Amino acid sequence: GKRILSGVQSSGTLHIGNYFGMMRPSLSLQEGNDCYYFIANYHALTQLPDPALLRQRTFDVAVDFLACGLNPDTTVFFRQSDVTEVQELTWILSCLTPVGLLERCHSYKDKLARGMEANHGLFAYPVLMAADILLYNSQLVPVGKDQKQHLEVTRDIAIRFNNRYGDILTVPEAMIQEDVAVIPGLDGQKMSKSYDNTIEIFGEGKPIRQKFMKIITDSTPMEEPKNPDTCNVFALYKLMATPEEQAELRQRYLAGNMGYGHAKQALFDKYSEFFAPMRERRKQLLEKPQLVEDVLQDGAARARKVAQQTLQRVRQAVGLA
Ligand code: TYM
Repeated sequence: GKRILSGVQSSGTLHIGNYFGMMRPSLSLQEGNDCYYFIANYHALTQLPDPALLRQRTFDVAVDFLACGLNPDTTVFFRQSDVTEVQELTWILSCLTPVGLLERCHSYKDKLARGMEANHGLFAYPVLMAADILLYNSQLVPVGKDQKQHLEVTRDIAIRFNNRYGDILTVPEAMIQEDVAVIPGLDGQKMSKSYDNTIEIFGEGKPIRQKFMKIITDSTPMEEPKNPDTCNVFALYKLMATPEEQAELRQRYLAGNMGYGHAKQALFDKYSEFFAPMRERRKQLLEKPQLVEDVLQDGAARARKVAQQTLQRVRQAVGLA
């Protein structure tokens, strides 16, 4: 088994890009590995100044991840802010991170380009992420493609550290599954809260069905054959349908005489069916907030043990202990 770690920010409601890009691959690694999954609420703070909202969303992400199948008996599941050791490691790593390395980060540049205020947290975001990963001696980090550069920065920082202070930190590897590296949103761009093109995992009622109906397609007329391989609707359908179901819908695309409305309805039905058992579990968890809190407290205690050991070695190595 390997040490696996990943995190998700609690800056918004989880969407199916998060689910298929990171949560499902992470959950499938739970058996036979040593998994650490956490809610990145320190990271969310870079964009979420409302305390009540930050608290609420952090709790919601915990509920949703558990509902989706996170097993707290085997996986260490915790809130980032419950293991404050990560902040000390962040500082130590900051002292060997070139500013230029951070200035080149796409995610930072994109946020600036979208007019976000450039606070220092936003700039230092990848150093905190490196500390998350290195604190737990992680070997593999399952993420979507948008995190690839952050993993490269993490590796760069770890290698710099080891070159300077000796072989202390484990140099991790990103694990990016090609077929789910970039889940498209309603408009065909990467699904992302900041593009306002998301489909929530636990969307409900009319509004969520309307979202499916708004997925952008080409304008091939109803009666003509359509290309499933360039269609967003089909791309999303593939994530949830069996191979037989995929082949069947593919046939209908190729045969013509099927409007996109039909494909969207098929996708919506599939989505409703796919997430139904998780939706049920979520309802039950929402009635037991104390159980969710207990899981997070227990996870934090287990995470802290590893964190303290790594931090002790690091403090020793750099001359702080
Ligand atoms: P975040 O919260 O933006 O996203 C969580 C995970 O979901 C993936 N993802 C996607 N994958 C495929 N297609 C999409 N459209 C899509 N949208 C989101 C992301 O790639 C990510 O894996 N910085 C991280 C959180 C973090 C972290 C860490 C991750 C903090 N510390 C340490 C790993 C290790 C982030 O912002 O994820």
